[in-house]
This record gives sequence, structure tokens and C-alpha cells, in this order.
Amino acid sequence: MKLIIAANWKMNKTICESVTYFQEFINEYCYIDEVTVVVCPPYTSLHAVYNEIKNSKISLGAQNIHWEDKGAFTGEISALMLKELGVEYVIIGHSERRHIMGEDNQQIHKKLKIALDYKLKPILCVGETEKERESGIMEEVIREQFTSAFSGLAGSQAQNIIIAYEPVWAIGTGKAALPEDAEKAAGTIKKIIKDSFNQKIADSVYIQYGGSVNEDNIGSFVTLPSVKGVLVGGASLDAPSFNKLVRASGRTVSN
Ligand code: PGA
Repeated sequence: MKLIIAANWKMNKTICESVTYFQEFINEYCYIDEVTVVVCPPYTSLHAVYNEIKNSKISLGAQNIHWEDKGAFTGEISALMLKELGVEYVIIGHSERRHIMGEDNQQIHKKLKIALDYKLKPILCVGETEKERESGIMEEVIREQFTSAFSGLAGSQAQNIIIAYEPVWAIGTGKAALPEDAEKAAGTIKKIIKDSFNQKIADSVYIQYGGSVNEDNIGSFVTLPSVKGVLVGGASLDAPSFNKLVRASGRTVSN
């Protein structure tokens, strides 16, 4: 199983800055067979970034999607619009969308379905807040997020979903989860998938860890038995650092 390293730029970089980033990044970038790199810039930079990466093996992702095909949804972007821009992956249910924009599990479920209908690869984010962690209900929270997002999906669809375990308290704080906690959460996710589908599907689903991943700690996550990649925010914004992070993951894989 390849590692999937996804960069989530959030609301950062203008078109100009995105192009400059890739001119620098591609120069130093060295493709590693065992690693898929996905970059998720803001919507406004998707076209420009596509042009920069189209001859590399880097894939394009979006940070959000709307659940309807088209219509009166001011400010929203559809699956078809993303496909036309060369987007392959889409982040769904990121904690900033859940907690700042008020997205709920039902909306996330609909987003997941439309992404699958259009053959986009969803990266579904799940994870508990600090308060939920302190109350010892991490497993219940993840189970609820997973169950409502996956409700009614066939096993063949579930297999195409990447799940990013992103504890909310670790995002943008510089306080990454301990690798053993990330492994425990990934194990919980696998168990939930097995209970909902079967062992084969649980084994084939990709699970990423996200939350304060950087070039120094990536090795301790991608070598975990149940974690097959990372979702990176802050540390993906600087081209040389992100290159180092990708290289560090490759070294770990081949070791
Ligand atoms: P971070 O963000 O790496 O800056 O913690 C991760 C994310 O939000 O996906």
C-alpha cells in the first residue's frame, strides 16, 4: 500500500503565490514510488496549480465540495466543476468546516456520496475535540462521525474513501498526537469499518493521521502499522519544508 501525503493549504496563497511555490517545489521534487503526493490549494488556485503539476506525478485535491449537482447554492462549488479543473481528491468534513462553518454529519454524508458518484477520492476527516478526549469519549465520537458519514454506502464505495484521523486539539497547535494514540485511533477506525462491513474492507481502507505533522515527526506516523499517510496543514505551506517532509517519508518507507 502506497503512502498518501496530502497537503491542505486551507485559506492560504493567492494564484501568484501558488505558482511561485510550485516553481520552487518541482525543482527539488523527487518522485518516490511508494508515496502519492496530493496538494489541496484553495479553489481559486486549482487551475493554476493543475498547470504547474500536470507533468509531475503530483495529484490535485480540493478542500470542500457541495452535495448537489448544480443549482441555487450561492458561493458553492460542485463535483463537476472540480472534475473539470483536474481535481482527483477532495477533503470532506475537515474539523474547521465542522466547528467553524457548522457542517454537520448529515451534510458530510451527502458530500461523501456526491464525491463518490463523480469518482472523486474523498478524504474524510474524523476526530475528537480536546474536551471529548478528556471525557474519554474519543471512540464514541469517531464512531458517530463514521457511521453517519458512511450510512447506506456499499462496501465497494467505502473502499474508495480515505479516512484522516485528525484530533481537533492537534490541528495547528504544534502538539501532534503521540504515535501510539494515532495508532490506537486508527485501530478503532478499522474496527468500526470491520463492524460495519468486513475485515477485508477494513484492511483495504486508507487511514491517515493529521495534526501538526512536520518533517521531523512524519517518520513516527507513517511507520505505524495502521497509518498509511498523513494530512499536512502548516508544514505544507513552505515549498522546501514540504519537500523535506515528503523525502523524509520516503526514507522511512524504504528503510
Ligand atoms: P496542521 O493542519 O498540520 O497545520 O496541524 C492539519 C490539518 O488541518 O489538516
